[in-house]
Amino acid sequence: MISLTGVTKRYGNTLAVNNLDLSIESGEFIVIIGPSGCGKSTTLRMVNRLIEATSGKIEIDGEDISSYRPEELRRRIGYAIQSVGLFPHMTVEKNIGVVPALLKWDEARIKRRVEELLELLSLDPSIYSDKYPAQLSGGEAQRVGVARALAADPSILLMDEPFGALDPITRESLQREFLRVQRELKKTIIFVTHDIDEAMAMGSKIAIMRDGGLIQFAAPEDILENPADRFVREFIGADSALKRLALLKVGPLAVAARTIKESEGLVAARDKSTPGGTLWVTGESGIVKGWVSPKSLTKAEKLSDAITSCDPRAAGIEKDDNLRDALSTMVKYGFKTAPVVDKGGVLIGELSLSAILEA
Ligand SMILES: Nc1ncnc2c1ncn2[C@@H]1O[C@H](COP(=O)(O)OP(=O)(O)OP(=O)(O)O)[C@@H](O)[C@H]1O
Ligand SMILES: [Mg+2]
Repeated sequence: MISLTGVTKRYGNTLAVNNLDLSIESGEFIVIIGPSGCGKSTTLRMVNRLIEATSGKIEIDGEDISSYRPEELRRRIGYAIQSVGLFPHMTVEKNIGVVPALLKWDEARIKRRVEELLELLSLDPSIYSDKYPAQLSGGEAQRVGVARALAADPSILLMDEPFGALDPITRESLQREFLRVQRELKKTIIFVTHDIDEAMAMGSKIAIMRDGGLIQFAAPEDILENPADRFVREFIGADSALKRLALLKVGPLAVAARTIKESEGLVAARDKSTPGGTLWVTGESGIVKGWVSPKSLTKAEKLSDAITSCDPRAAGIEKDDNLRDALSTMVKYGFKTAPVVDKGGVLIGELSLSAILEA
């Protein structure tokens, strides 16, 4: 657990951080967000003592950080930043191994650890170990930055806009990947961002700062439902309903679907079809082929003529998708009811627009 009590950082007349109280449970992922200059980076850097607080107390597991030796802090706290800060003259392997080398691990152990981390972050060690930072894309460099922060298996990670410099698509995929890594590693994380969507997607709790102080510290859904004041409301933005949808999963709203195999034929389809309902047509293995309406069945001479086809890889919705993405797929394909499929495209249920609107 990390706790900040009455922490202040003053630069001349500037109060970069003003009497901040914040406490983070072990294994919790908190996101600090707020306008530029509100004191996010300063707060983070006081926790690993890159900056000394002017006053107040910071404790890790009940012990004042000033009593930790610097090596001990470095081992316990990983740090990743936006500009990545990789050493340009060192290979990826050497960059990731910086802290273990400082901690005097032997070479074989460092090599093993580097390989393990590259694999964890989906970078093939045989391709990436010997590259130099200039030979990496922005997203790859960010991954290496995260691997380096994880190198000595710290229990705490401080991340200062680690995905800030990336295009939205790379950024989203890194966010997803990092959440997967976190589910496995269960670090205590303080993550700084400018981006409210990133904060909502990543944080179990969000700390909203302004002018060096903490305005609200709560779970994403609580912030959306009960913003502390007008500033928070404006910060969240106008589309808070959509943001709330992004926090909900498809799974609980999916219901059983009416389905028929294409091989069962037209007469069986006419029997099963109900007015207003969607009858999904699948192949033998249950993979979605499309759907039929009562009207198309009346006119058709064989079942295949009646099918409006639908590619489950593009238009299928998975149980773990969030409702905002599901809604956007449904709007894109003009669905009132969408097929819910597993990874292989096999139909497992359906999701209706009205169910989303009720949520
Ligand atoms: N070394 C310094 N000397 C003087 N003032 C500083 C110093 N570092 C930060 N500040 C000031 O402290 C305040 C908080 O800075 P900080 O870097 O923590 O902001 P931030 O929330 O991380 O902003 P950003 O979103 O732009 O990264 C700012 O007003 C900044 O100008
Ligand atoms: Mg900053």
